[in-house]
This record gives sequence, C-alpha cells and structure tokens, in this order.
Amino acid sequence: MTNTLTDTPTPAARAAALTRRDFPAGFVFGVATSSYQIEGAAHEDGRSPSIWDVFCAQPGRISDGSSGAVACDHYHRWEQDLDLIAALGVDAYRFSVAWPRVVPTGRGPVNPAGLDFYERLTDGLLARGVQPHVTLYHWDLPATLQDQGGWTNRDTAYAFAEYSAAVAERLGNRVASYATLNEPWCSSVLSYEIGEHAPGTRDRAAALSAAHHLLLGHGLAMPEIRRHAPQSQAGIVLNLGPQESASDRPEDILAARQADGRFNRWFLDPLLRGEYPADTWADVGADAPPVQDGDLELIRVPNDFLGVNYYSRGVIGAQGGVLPEGASVTDMGWEIHPQGLTDLMLRLKADYPALPPIYITENGAAFADERSGDRVHDPRRTEFLSTHLSALLQATQAGVDVRGYFAWSLMDNFEWAHGYQKRFGLVYVDYATQERLLKDSALWYQAFLK
Ligand code: FCB
Repeated sequence: MTNTLTDTPTPAARAAALTRRDFPAGFVFGVATSSYQIEGAAHEDGRSPSIWDVFCAQPGRISDGSSGAVACDHYHRWEQDLDLIAALGVDAYRFSVAWPRVVPTGRGPVNPAGLDFYERLTDGLLARGVQPHVTLYHWDLPATLQDQGGWTNRDTAYAFAEYSAAVAERLGNRVASYATLNEPWCSSVLSYEIGEHAPGTRDRAAALSAAHHLLLGHGLAMPEIRRHAPQSQAGIVLNLGPQESASDRPEDILAARQADGRFNRWFLDPLLRGEYPADTWADVGADAPPVQDGDLELIRVPNDFLGVNYYSRGVIGAQGGVLPEGASVTDMGWEIHPQGLTDLMLRLKADYPALPPIYITENGAAFADERSGDRVHDPRRTEFLSTHLSALLQATQAGVDVRGYFAWSLMDNFEWAHGYQKRFGLVYVDYATQERLLKDSALWYQAFLK
C-alpha cells in the first residue's frame, strides 16, 4: 500500500536528508562576512573614517547606539578566525576589503599597510586550503568622498575603479573571485532614499543617481580587475527576491510589478541587458538618473558570475508589503520562504539570456540565540539553512547553473542599523570577551560538509 502523504517527502524531510554529494561536483560551500561588520580597529594602520563611522556617531541612527569601532575585533584576531573557518570544513570564505584602509583619502595615494592586512588574510586562507572570495565594496565608503556627494557624485565611480585596481594589483590571481559591489540596492535606495543606512539621506533622485554611479563604478572597475587578476573570476553581488502580488486584484498585481522593477530589474536589466526597465523608468519620472552616452555599454560588461544574496520574498499589495497569514519569520521579521530561492533562480534563467553562472553569496537568518553553557541551540537556523540549500538544489536540478553557496554569516557581527542586537552567525560571539562558540548550526554545517 502506498501512502502519498508519507511517500512525498516534505520540504523539511528533503532538507534533513541532504548531503553535499547531492550537489554538482566542484560546487563551492562557504561562509561570508564584511569588513565594517567584523574588523573593528577603526583607527589603525592608517584607516580613515568611513560613512558608517560618521553615521554611527549620529544619535538615533543605530538602535543600540553602537558602532563597528571594535565589532568582532577580527583585525587583531584574524588568525584565530581563519582557523575557525578551516575547522568548519568550508571550501571558501567571502570577505570584503575596506576602501578607507586602502585609499584613506578616497581617491589618491594607496596605503600599503591597509593592503598588507588583506594580503595576510588571503595568504592565510590559501595556507589553510580555503579559497578567498573578495568583495571590493560592502558599503564602507571613505567619509571624505561623502563630503563631495558620495555616490551621487559621478567622480566616485572613477575613484572606485582606481581603488579596485590597487586591490587587484596587490592580491592578483590569488583571489578566487572579485565582486565589485555588494547589494547596490542597499547602498543606493536604503542609504539615500529610505535613509536607514549611511549616509542616511531621504531623497529618491539622489538614490537613483547613486544607483547609477554604483553600476557605472562596476563597469569601470571590471576591466581593472581583469587586467591585474586575469585568472580570477570577476562579477557583482545583488540582493534579489521575488516580489509577489498579495492578491489577484489588478492594483496589487501592478504594485508587485512596480516593486519588482525597483528592487530587481532596476539592477539586473542594465547589467544583463544594457538598459533600464522602461516601466520603472516611466514611474520615477523626473527622479530618473543622469545617464551619459556610453554608460550603459560600460555597465553591460560581461561578468564571470552573478552573486545573489537571498533572504526572503516580498508579498506586495497596493498599500505596500504584507506578511502572509501564518508566515514564520526570523528575528528581523523577514518571512522564511525557501521556495522563493527556487523561484528566483528559475526566473533569472528564464528572463535573462545573458545570465552568467550564479553564486549564492549570502543566505541566512537572525534568531535571538542564547548561550547555555558552551552550547548555543539554534535549530531554526539549521532548518533555515538546510531548507534553503534544498531549494537551491531543486533549481540546479532544473538546469540553473549555480556554482556555490555562502552562508551569512561566519559569526555574529555588527548588523548595521540594528547594531549587535541581531545575530546572524553560525558562530556565536560573546562581545564582552570576544569568545567564539560554534552554534549547533555550525556543527550541522560542518557535518554536512564532511
Ligand atoms: C545583507 C548584507 C549583509 C548583512 C545581511 C543580513 O543585506 O549584505 O551585510 O547585513 O544583509
């Protein structure tokens, strides 16, 4: 007798049975971090302030009043942290380089001591058999450049290309992949329109100008990376997610389509098609960005990979985003929806003929973890990771070319406007002592990778 209920594995059962051998040969598994969120050492070895140092000093910007001045003290504890990464058994580590360490004036002389740190990190990873994956811009713009308008100033795109060249020249082919930008939606819309991230501006025209100059910076930096590191992979990281209509009502369907335009297509279309989406361009009217002749040719530069950060989907009604009834959410209030990752991958493949191979460069969840003795029991994070990996596997089996997956994050860290109150780590950080402790989810990942 067959029982369809038990014969059809539930998503959770499928996820629990998962092993790394289910994935294509050579599939890369890693963990990710970013410079400002973990490094600390804000004033050392010639680092200048970034826009996040300035932003954190403004009252009311960060919910717990904290900053990244010390963070996980990774700048001093990097060797121990690399040992931890190696002990997890991952193939790869994604980290970012702090522009204010490398070019403290934003544009001008290179600070060799800043590059020394990332060279030690790169060589330390290689010595441990872990591939280095570098992100050049994970939001810590030198504050001196913000004084000249930040990303609303076209010159910042050229400054970024020069800084990128300096990093690629020093680290060269030792790095497995260079991503120019992390999540330009966040460093434009969230930063210049919504004002939740540095520099905290609230101006849509400024945000769209920033987004254009970020994309231009990507286009200008890519040839510099290729020139100095011809054997490394080069590409960009976007935060993407399905934007689904809350109902069949035409006004909800329209709102979802508009949200998709602003969140996904505004970045995907220029990069992969060489044009801004016409419907969204019409929606933004006079706030449209200052595009010069030739910009879109530069932006449409071929990429070796597209990095995708996936956390959740949007469910959109005419009045804005809604949480579906019965949805389970993380400590960020984000809906847990692994199916969205499969849907997103299939959609990218269907809609973008020029789509390069994909790496999931971030995926993870914040939960209010508590330490009990030397253990941190975080079953919901393990379930989050395994169900998303399972959803990703379904997309690869349906023919999407996905080459790797990085969990966000290696360890608990400074979660931007939420300070230290949101824990995304597989490794728990006791901020009073800087002790690191593998959560149950880290032990699960370790076992999965064995
Ligand atoms: C992403 C960021 C990353 C981290 C996660 C939770 O948007 O790239 O730095 O904050 O969200």
